Amino acid sequence: MPVSYKDLGLANTNDMFRRAFAGRYAVPAYNFNNMEQLQAIITACVESRSPVILQISSGARKYANQTLLRYMAEGAVRMAREMEKAKGADLAIPITLHLDHGDTFELAKSCIENGFSSVMIDGSHLPYEENIALTRQVVEYARPLGVSVEGELGRLAGIEDEVQAEKSSYTDPKQVVDFVKRTSVDSLAISIGTSHGAYKFKPEQCTRDERGILVPPPLRFDILAEVEKQVPGFPIVLHGASSVIQDAVAAINKYGGKMKDATGVPEEQLRQAARSAVCKINIDTDGRMVMTATIRQVFAESPGEFDPRKYLGPARTALIEMYKRKNREVLGSAGRYGQEF
Ligand code: G3H
Ligand code: 13P
Ligand code: ZN
Repeated sequence: MPVSYKDLGLANTNDMFRRAFAGRYAVPAYNFNNMEQLQAIITACVESRSPVILQISSGARKYANQTLLRYMAEGAVRMAREMEKAKGADLAIPITLHLDHGDTFELAKSCIENGFSSVMIDGSHLPYEENIALTRQVVEYARPLGVSVEGELGRLAGIEDEVQAEKSSYTDPKQVVDFVKRTSVDSLAISIGTSHGAYKFKPEQCTRDERGILVPPPLRFDILAEVEKQVPGFPIVLHGASSVIQDAVAAINKYGGKMKDATGVPEEQLRQAARSAVCKINIDTDGRMVMTATIRQVFAESPGEFDPRKYLGPARTALIEMYKRKNREVLGSAGRYGQEF
């Protein structure tokens, strides 16, 4: 039986993005795969009074199970409302359940039927006309149901395990008006130099600071500015926006891991992007790394530990602190729905 996101207490992104645009901040889109990550995201966003997009990749959907996810999202909304009631909050934070990088119409439709309030259809790897056709097909299905749709134009690079994936191609601002008009999407992901994962830049693209840490080349704010000029007031999305927190890299390496030259996007640049038309910023890798760093530390310091709560609990606590700091200092989304708790 299909379920509407409205029955789960979820929101689409329309009002969120309107407010984010006007308030010059970005809504965090945090990926999750398990209970502790979801608890951390909800706790952090409720306490910091930030709107939030809960993001599920197709891999996460397979990992967690699509039926369970629907109930996890509904449970997350109820948990948020209980926390807000206990604190006497006047406003409820909006919570979106979003498909990240959907690649087929069938996947997007299935997510919508299972309670998602927003979907990304990522046709960025397709020829331009095919990207338009696929994106439009999803919009035609989603719009009457009140579900938001994110499209993508331009391709992000990805370097994983020291193997460089496909080359990126920056978004061509000249294509944006045509794409937005013909697909009728609600938001658009663009490529301005970010990429997915923990190795966003090759060492030869960077300089090094006095501690030997890689300093990446700046994002292409000129392309972002041109896109904004082409589609004034239209919500833009930034993928691959983890900073690859260097304290987490150091902790992972200290406690037995191996993440040499892991680099991300400097947080000042993300803050700058959040003040512009960028209304949604996607962060997954930073959560993975903070979680891994904490678990490694527990294992290194307490080798006899075998109760998962003893390592997943501290990892959850570290995630809450990281997400709250991101909301406050990077996204600028904290305190937008009442005073922080
Ligand atoms: O954009 C990719 C996200 O980080 C999700 O990654 O496909 O490994 O779940 P995943
Ligand atoms: P990161 O790998 O930089 O966290 O990007 C996540 C993302 O874009 C999910 O769609
Ligand atoms: Zn992404």
